[in-house]
Order: sequence, then C-alpha cells, then structure tokens
Amino acid sequence: MSEDPLLLSRLLDWTAEVAAQVRSGEIFVPTASGERWDLSVVGDDEVEIWVVSWPPGFRTELHDHGPAAGAFVVTSGSLTEGVWDPIAGRRVESRIGTGSASAFAPGHVHDVANHGTEPAVTVNAYSPPLAEAAYYDVHRQRLRRFAAARRTDGAEAPLEPTAADEDVAGGT
Ligand SMILES: [Fe+2]
Repeated sequence: MSEDPLLLSRLLDWTAEVAAQVRSGEIFVPTASGERWDLSVVGDDEVEIWVVSWPPGFRTELHDHGPAAGAFVVTSGSLTEGVWDPIAGRRVESRIGTGSASAFAPGHVHDVANHGTEPAVTVNAYSPPLAEAAYYDVHRQRLRRFAAARRTDGAEAPLEPTAADEDVAGGT
C-alpha cells in the first residue's frame, strides 16, 4: 500500500485542531473515572476523529486499521507505541509523550499502551473512516492474524470477543 504524505499531513492537522479544543477544555475528557473513554467528534465520508482516554495499564492488541491511514497526537500523559517491523520481524517500541504525534499509512500494524501511572489522552483521526481491523499475535517472527472485526465502536477500542467471533475471516 502506498503512503500519501498529503493525507498524513492533513490527518495530523485535523488531530491538532481537535487537540487544541481538548487543551482549552472545550472538549472535556473524564480521565478521573479511571475508565477507558472515547468520543467521536467528526465522522463523515472522508475522516473520523476521536478523543480517547487511556487509563494506566490499558493497552490494545496488535492490530491494523483496514484500508485507513491514521494519525494521533497525545494531549496529556504518555503512551508507548509498538510498531510491527515486517523486515526485522519484531515490534519496535517508542514512547510518545505529551504534544507528540504519530501518523501512519494503511498497512501499519501497531499496539498502543499506557505504561504510565497517569491517564493519557489522545486525538485520533482515520481516513477513510475505520471500517475494519485485524488483530495479530506474533509467531516465529511473523504476524498471525487471530481475529478481524468491523470497527464501528470506537477508535483503538479493545477487541470485543463477540465481534471477533462473528467476524473472523480466517487467518494466515
Ligand atoms: Fe491503532
């Protein structure tokens, strides 16, 4: 899949706009609850944008985003992104602190975790809008898909077992 620098730039711009609303308090994020939380702020045919809170200890499975490119910016706290490197056959971790952003083309496989002691908040954008995702584990330095699900229930949401059971399309 090809990378579209213009699209990635626009995704980063969109996340920055919404991040400013989060920082100003215009969008309130209930981090004190200790629960994972997300809010859809834009959803049209071109892009969807979410605000997501990440309680300490929360992590996603290794996953892709179907045909979507994406971007996220951390507005508070700190996250660790593990990116699958298909050449090296391993995950490569990096810390993404407050104010830092990441953008990715279709085909990007990652997991995201809050290893800190404070909640983290991100603004996430996807284009085209999230429609599906596949979930992976690693077997002998290769990705092995164990589930696929339609994604209409939130950005970077945990895999719902029932959705996975219904939508598994066969793994390789
Ligand atoms: Fe993701």
